[in-house]
Formats: sequence, structure tokens, C-alpha cells
Amino acid sequence: MLEDFKITTPLVKLASFGENDAYIKLEGSNLYGSAKDRAAIYVLTKLLDEGTISRDTEIVESSSGNMGVALAAVGARLGLKITLMIDQSISGLNEFLIRSFGANTVKITQADENGSYLKARLQTVREYLDSHENVYWFNQYGNPLVIEAYRETVGREIAEQVPDADYVFVAISSGGTIAGISQAVEKYGSGIKVVAVDLEGSKIFDPNTKAIKHLTGIGSSIRSDNVQRAVFDDHIVIDEPSSIQALGDMLRDEQLFLGGSSGCVVAGAKRYVREHGLQGKKLVLVSHDRGDRYYNNLYSKYFS
Ligand SMILES: Cc1ncc(COP(=O)(O)O)c(C=O)c1O
Repeated sequence: MLEDFKITTPLVKLASFGENDAYIKLEGSNLYGSAKDRAAIYVLTKLLDEGTISRDTEIVESSSGNMGVALAAVGARLGLKITLMIDQSISGLNEFLIRSFGANTVKITQADENGSYLKARLQTVREYLDSHENVYWFNQYGNPLVIEAYRETVGREIAEQVPDADYVFVAISSGGTIAGISQAVEKYGSGIKVVAVDLEGSKIFDPNTKAIKHLTGIGSSIRSDNVQRAVFDDHIVIDEPSSIQALGDMLRDEQLFLGGSSGCVVAGAKRYVREHGLQGKKLVLVSHDRGDRYYNNLYSKYFS
């Protein structure tokens, strides 16, 4: 089921890392544009194959971004009803895709004190579960199957494509991607060090921060269960201007049009290399998505 959708994403060599041998894993090359395809395809097909859900089960999730788009598309292909708790910060493009793929949406309009809608979206999911029958919460923040999905897909690919890598840099938000990649490194025995990259304003490594972040997809106002399950070697927190500058560098120097969180990962990897005096190392940077979905609210603002 959905075998044609399971693709290996490209690993492209970067020219701008000086003494180090750097590669970027382009998860934006997945069919619906992001790493989240991996989780949607793997988890939904597994749940159906095992009989945990049936075609009559409704899948709910909180997402205003890539996971919403991936679940809407993959769910439709599998004949499943998908309901997404989105919020009013959603981009016009994501809302268009989610609705066009046929998912139902519940839109939250009240942000919390940090300008985040996450807690309100999760509360709405809980109320929905209490008041509806035969509903499965996908739960990218806490479902161990999501970690397994990233371990067996992108994580395994990295371990196989670059078994001799020294470091892999991964953006962190709900934590599934980094937890899965860390498990793959452990399971497939490549001994790569895993470094989490977060954005200033995120509460994952600094619960008391008062900074407001604007880039989406990376960072979080909560430290989710899947973040707590993630075992990684180190982390680095990057400011927004450095992340945006890195996006411009990638456009100009590498002809890569990357999503916002990838700018943070590129800036994070460069700073990490500098601060730790790394030379002659093999690095892998994970890019979660492409720049297309950020053209209107990011690229056109800073780079036109
Ligand atoms: C663009 C982007 N980058 C990074 C991440 C972080 O991935 P994870 O939630 O698995 O930690 C996400 C997750 O939503 C994302 O959409």
C-alpha cells in the first residue's frame, strides 16, 4: 500500500563548508513537500495493516503546517477521514492544500501568552476525542510510532547513504525527526553524533525565554514526550537573523531554495563547526522542506 510514495530523498554536497565535507538531505523532495510525508505514510499504513484503525476511523491531529498537508494528502489516498486542528497563523498555501486534499479543519483563533496556538490546538484535540467515537489521534508530539517512522525512513537512509558521517544536524520541534534519526544511528551502527538545532524563542532548551520566534516549523512552546524520548549528543540554539541570512547564502552560493527551519540548521551547523574547531569532518544537515511554502511570508520580505 502506497509503495510508490516511499522514495529515497537526495543527499547533495555543499560547497560552502570549507575544511569540512558537508551534505544536505533534502526532505523537501518528498511527494507532498516535507519530511512529514515520512511519518504520515509510515504510521497510517502500519495502523491499517495491523488493524489498529479501519477505513471508518477518523484521524485527528493538531497542525498548521507540513504535518497537516502530509496527513491530508496521504489520508485521502488511503480513503481515511482526516480532521486537523489548525490556527489562524496558517499560511494561505497550507490552508489551500489541506482543504483541497479534502481534510476537515477546526480553526483556533486564540493565542497563548507567547503568541503560540499550540496549547489551544492540543486542548481542542482532547475535547474532540472526548466527544467523538472511533477517532485516532495521530499525535506527532507523543506517538512513539512517529519516532519509529523517522528511524526506518530518513534515519535509515542517512545511516546507509553516509555511514562514515561524523555529525548530523537536525531541527527540533515536536522531536520525532531527531528521536528517529538518533535511534537509526544507534540501530544501524554508524556512530554519527546527532546535534539538535533550535531557534531562539523556543522553550525546548530554555523554558523561561521571553523571546518571540517568527520562523515556523522549528522550536516549540512545550517540551513534548517525543522530545523527551530523543537521545542526542548536543544542541545549539540559533537566532532568527542568522537563520534568515543562511537562507540567502544557500540561495546564492548553493542554488538551494530551502524552508525556514533549514536556514536555522545551516546557521547552526556553521556555528557549531566554528565553535568546536571542527576540521576534516563529514557533516550531514537535514533540511525538512523547500522554500516554496515560505515565499510569501519570508523570501519576498527579505530577499526581493
Ligand atoms: C519545516 C520543519 N522543520 C522542522 C520540523 C521539526 O521536526 P519535528 O517536529 O519532528 O521535531 C518541522 C516539524 O513540524 C517542520 O515542519
